[in-house]
Amino acid sequence: MNQGKRVGIIGAGNVGATVAYSLAMLGSCHEIILRDNKIDVAKGKALDMSQAAAAVRSHTIVRVAEDMSDLSNCDVVVVTAGSPRLPGMSRDDLLMINAKITKEVIEGVAKYSPDSIIIMVSNPLDAMTYVALKESGFERSRVIGMAGILDSSRMASFIQEKLGYGGGQIRASVMGGHGDDMVPLPRYSTVAGVPLSNVLTNAEINEIVTRTRNGGAEIVGHLKTGSAYYAPARSTTIMVEAILKDTKQIHPCAVYLEGEYGHFDVVSGVPVMLGANGAEKIIEVALDDAEKKMFEGSCNSVRTLIDTLNKNNFFEGE
Ligand code: NAI
Ligand code: 2OP
Repeated sequence: MNQGKRVGIIGAGNVGATVAYSLAMLGSCHEIILRDNKIDVAKGKALDMSQAAAAVRSHTIVRVAEDMSDLSNCDVVVVTAGSPRLPGMSRDDLLMINAKITKEVIEGVAKYSPDSIIIMVSNPLDAMTYVALKESGFERSRVIGMAGILDSSRMASFIQEKLGYGGGQIRASVMGGHGDDMVPLPRYSTVAGVPLSNVLTNAEINEIVTRTRNGGAEIVGHLKTGSAYYAPARSTTIMVEAILKDTKQIHPCAVYLEGEYGHFDVVSGVPVMLGANGAEKIIEVALDDAEKKMFEGSCNSVRTLIDTLNKNNFFEGE
């Protein structure tokens, strides 16, 4: 039971609202507090979800934070606030806009929920996790990005689709940043413990790797007006539950590296043990030379974004 646990969700758009709904249906916490600039929309969604919770006899209450001070004493805060990429906006423009939104909301989180664990979802994920860490001043175990669970689930579903069997028995592994150069790891992916190479050809595995890297874009291509949210929200909910229930389970998450895998001062996706204190342990798996090179390339892409923030004096005065 998680009586008394309080989860804040900033950004009540597609992902944020679906995380809230998922948590409310599971009864994972006592209270969910939704915060969005569009207060009326958030209020409507909160009422709707509280009524859904009543329908399934869940004790979870969903409320709205009229301002950041209502987001107090949360155990976990999920940040999905962000601007979509609008016509004429470059990737760097979007980076700066979402970094400013992240900075603004994280200031509030640090002030009103100073003991919380922050789960970042807003894109670009690894750079926003870096911003949240720097702006909150929290220790690195309490600022964690969601992407690895999503990317691994995408890979698992593509493996199942290709094989035509094994559903629910596939463990796929993806490390690195949440970008085009993420690092799917077929060597560490299995179907009921059977290595992928025993059941698929190299060409089939390469096809799955490419499709995994483009997994988000494939969905945008269909939706046209937005990006994926069911799998992103469910993946986030898995992280929230692991923390609230102190499960100590291992999940791929984006964390700040201080020498792990040979990298410093960068955020990237690695297997971590999640528990009541956040990312309680970083697991270092053995990578071969090619995998190490891919992981380095992915870290370098995140560094480029951090460099852009620095060139724009984003962290100045801190
Ligand atoms: P959305 O546009 O549906 O929702 C974003 C919400 O943030 C909007 O309701 C907006 O009003 C709100 N917002 C903007 N500025 C705010 C502020 N200062 N304070 C409070 N709320 C604010 O977008 P969606 O689909 O929910 O995605 C959210 C973010 O998550 C995006 O950046 C998206 O790219 C990212 N994402 C990341 C994934 C990952 O694997 N890490 C997967 C899917 C989405
Ligand atoms: C995704 O991978 C857009 O990051 C988001 O679906």
